[in-house]
Amino acid sequence: MIDRSRNLAILGLQWGDEGKGKLVDLLSARFRHVVRFQGGNNAGHTVVVDGQSIALHQVPSGALHTGCFLVVGSGVLLNLEVFHQELSRLSQRGVDVTGRMIISDKAHLILPHHIALDQWREGRAGANRIGTTGRGIGPAYEMKAARMGVRKGDLKHPDSLQERIRASYEEVRLLLGAEAQLPSLEAIAAQLMEQARPLLPLIGDIQAHLREAQAKGEPILFEGAQATLLDIDHGTYPFVTSSNCSIGGLFTGTGLSHKDLGYVVGVAKAYTTRVGAGPMPSELQDASGDRLREVGREFGTTTGRPRRCGWFDAPITRHAVRTNGADGLGLMKLDVLDGLDQVGLVIGYRDGEGGLVPNLPSCAQDWACLRPEVRMYKGWTQATRGVRSLEALPREARIYLDALAEAAEAPIAYLSTGPDRDEGFAWPGRFLEGML
Ligand code: IMP
Repeated sequence: MIDRSRNLAILGLQWGDEGKGKLVDLLSARFRHVVRFQGGNNAGHTVVVDGQSIALHQVPSGALHTGCFLVVGSGVLLNLEVFHQELSRLSQRGVDVTGRMIISDKAHLILPHHIALDQWREGRAGANRIGTTGRGIGPAYEMKAARMGVRKGDLKHPDSLQERIRASYEEVRLLLGAEAQLPSLEAIAAQLMEQARPLLPLIGDIQAHLREAQAKGEPILFEGAQATLLDIDHGTYPFVTSSNCSIGGLFTGTGLSHKDLGYVVGVAKAYTTRVGAGPMPSELQDASGDRLREVGREFGTTTGRPRRCGWFDAPITRHAVRTNGADGLGLMKLDVLDGLDQVGLVIGYRDGEGGLVPNLPSCAQDWACLRPEVRMYKGWTQATRGVRSLEALPREARIYLDALAEAAEAPIAYLSTGPDRDEGFAWPGRFLEGML
């Protein structure tokens, strides 16, 4: 009898950058396999070890644990140049992934013309800019849907690689015209093959790999990138990324089924941030927002852009909890709220007429009319930074956390009180207890 109940997914519940990397890194020691299943190098996971931070974009965050087998799933996009840079950064820090990585043969590649198209579009979009990371993510997923994508498995057929690339390359050249400063098709194919050569032995069938792992009783950790409000279907469309970052993407991006999953941890910060354009009803465009940004060091891991900051937004988080079937919250960065006189919690939205809005709207125009209903809580004077038990939390922090969990409709399973590995704790009596 295969025990799948130990398999666990970690998913973002806000607009990304919630601190999923820290939780994945903490839990990795308990899992034999760590799987990335969607997104590309638009993601940026920072893991902090002994006070030093390492930013990972495409390599699963379990990399730092030598006992972890790293799986790059079918829904992931890889930019091979960036992938090599990341591997070599890891290797300079003494982290070797040789013999413990598999890359899905179905996973698509990000090509130079995808990046050119992404940047060209954003450059022309004016007020309609999405604020993408400019890494070619949208076009690479578009080409996948248009059946013009290039997959890792194609790299094993060098003779037909150029033809595989041609259709998407020609379309982009036609569209961009003289503005396209693209390498030639031959040069793209040649460079791909060069970058691919050392990786060819790692390319394989990850579905079979994960099935075998399950048969051997080896537990699997699934690591989400981005987050539910950036999900192409369930996020704030069109201000989203181009993949399913919520639970559905886990299944399409691995070939496993819902029966293969035990628990889902939804990760959220104790406040809200967003990079790029689009709706964010909780945004604070005042000194409180600036303070969250400065104390929380809210600048993008991937692009360095300042993040928009606001109070914890219960309606979006509740939507994400429901969408993903989250069993509990990984609540991050509580310590950033230390020292505030008052801490806000967005408990609902009102529309233009002042009526309460029960569900999230689907159109950006409707989002723009929403006003947050904020409830203020008394702040705490005693710092939570580094606190490692429930008993050590100030009373006011407990009151705030209880209200937050109730509004988000999920219990807190892990609380993070600082960037380092040992700053935080699993909530007593809940499913992560004993796992960290
Ligand atoms: P794209 O994924 O580069 O197409 O960007 C689309 C939107 O998703 C932009 O608003 C990006 O800032 C946002 N985004 C993409 N990846 C991340 C992430 O890992 N964290 C936060 N925002 C992200």
